[in-house]
Amino acid sequence: MSASQPSATAPPAVDPRFDLLETTMKRLGYSKSALIEILHSAQEVFGYLPNELLTHVAKRLKLPPSQVYGVATFYHQFSFTPLGEHICTVCMGTPCYVKRAEDIINQIQATFKVAPGETSADGKLSVRAARCVGSCGLAPVVIIDSTVIGKESPEAIVGRLQTLLQTPQEVAR
Ligand code: FES
Repeated sequence: MSASQPSATAPPAVDPRFDLLETTMKRLGYSKSALIEILHSAQEVFGYLPNELLTHVAKRLKLPPSQVYGVATFYHQFSFTPLGEHICTVCMGTPCYVKRAEDIINQIQATFKVAPGETSADGKLSVRAARCVGSCGLAPVVIIDSTVIGKESPEAIVGRLQTLLQTPQEVAR
């Protein structure tokens, strides 16, 4: 876990991130049907969904923890371990798959020694595989941090990551 990513297990009263999440839950009326949106918000705020956070959400929405765990683990986009400084998500939906998404994953893994679902030992890069991210016309789609990249070769994606990991700046557009 990086220094900028303090423990998610701190009591809600002393961790301002819980206030952000509370604001979202309040805006959504603590609705049980908003669970997925709330989990997305929790992941954005905390970077991942540790058990204590899922338990907290379950408590606030008055849902059985098993239901919250069940929903969170069903969806690929949720992560249960701390993520790296940079996040590379490779879409593995069918249109992206046929446009060499698997080659992108393989070349990233070969170059940076990080498999989907893992974070590099130095904490700089997390790699994730996603189902369709909704931009099939750009296949293969890769999202590096908040930048959506389409129609690039595995070599170009690896090049972007190499540049990004060498400099603490935004990915080159
Ligand atoms: S399958 Fe990759 S964006 Fe739809």
